[in-house]
Amino acid sequence: MEVRHMPVLLEEVVRFLQPQAGGHYIDGTLGDGGHTEAILERSAPDGRVLGIDLDPEALDRVARRLSRYVKSGRLLLAQGNFADLERIAAAHAFGPVQGILLDLGFSSLQLSDPRRGLSFAAEGPLDMRLDPAQSLSAADLVNQADEQELADIFYRYGEERYARQIARRIVREREQAPITSTRRLAEIVTAAIAAARQRPPRDGIHPATRVFMALRIAVNRELENVERALPQMLNLLSRGGGAPGERGLAGRMVVIAFHSLEDRIVKNFMKREATDCLCPPRTPVCVCGHRARLRLLTPKPVWPTAEEISANPRSRSARLRAAERLADLPA
Ligand SMILES: C[S@@+](CC[C@H](N)C(=O)[O-])C[C@H]1O[C@@H](n2cnc3c(N)ncnc32)[C@H](O)[C@@H]1O
Repeated sequence: MEVRHMPVLLEEVVRFLQPQAGGHYIDGTLGDGGHTEAILERSAPDGRVLGIDLDPEALDRVARRLSRYVKSGRLLLAQGNFADLERIAAAHAFGPVQGILLDLGFSSLQLSDPRRGLSFAAEGPLDMRLDPAQSLSAADLVNQADEQELADIFYRYGEERYARQIARRIVREREQAPITSTRRLAEIVTAAIAAARQRPPRDGIHPATRVFMALRIAVNRELENVERALPQMLNLLSRGGGAPGERGLAGRMVVIAFHSLEDRIVKNFMKREATDCLCPPRTPVCVCGHRARLRLLTPKPVWPTAEEISANPRSRSARLRAAERLADLPA
């Protein structure tokens, strides 16, 4: 039997996107197509989805599994980076749309595939690229970046307190032989932490967890991609019934993040775009002219229920934020 990725917060995504017949939706992180399939089912008979993924293998699988929707023209598939959302949507004559979803990170299929080198638990090449056409791999970074750059990556993206000691040991080890496998890197990191640590670890996670996460984020430019995508998502959302040429509900954006660095970017963007004036406090009259374009649907992030976490432990760190496009004020 084929392994499947279990979509996280599925009912919550559907509740916030409220798919409807005739609606147009973009799934910027198609993955195994679990969320897309639910959107297509709930927007029957003629709702459409543009599904985007960087990973061509993910697109191939969905093209087979959801072939009935591809054949009927209700599901369009595009290989690309959600950081280029507006360009990809325009190339498919898609937009304005009633909903856009980003379910960030990696699918279970990607994480468990040793060929991708995403996990320290399995021996594999130190690759980590989502897009096989990208030239920079994790091995390139680990073997070529200077010590300071590596320490910065581990500290900034992994919040790793032993970042400097790990970077120093990597540089020493790679002088013996290039570091090309996940297991060797995990061993080097584990040894560096064991030498630096005064007390046994308290959190019980594998010592290489943070370094692997940091490298994934750096290799795939995860934070930069989210920063680039958010304003484009907002631009693509329908302004709802009142706007010229637009029908139906106002567009909604839904983002699921798996770590706090990503979530902070989403939170700050939505908060800012849901605020009318951004002048410093106590400015007597607004001089910035900023007008809210979003209404927050989730003042606090939505987390999976205990039942979902026990059925799908990977959902543990997921948190969802959603917002709705406001109509433009008359000029
Ligand atoms: C958590 S999975 C999505 C799972 C999907 N929602 C489902 O229900 O099966 C994230 C997917 O986003 C893709 N991805 C990550 N970053 C991307 C980017 N910048 N542009 C396009 N796709 C990206 C990954 O390749 C992966 O397939």
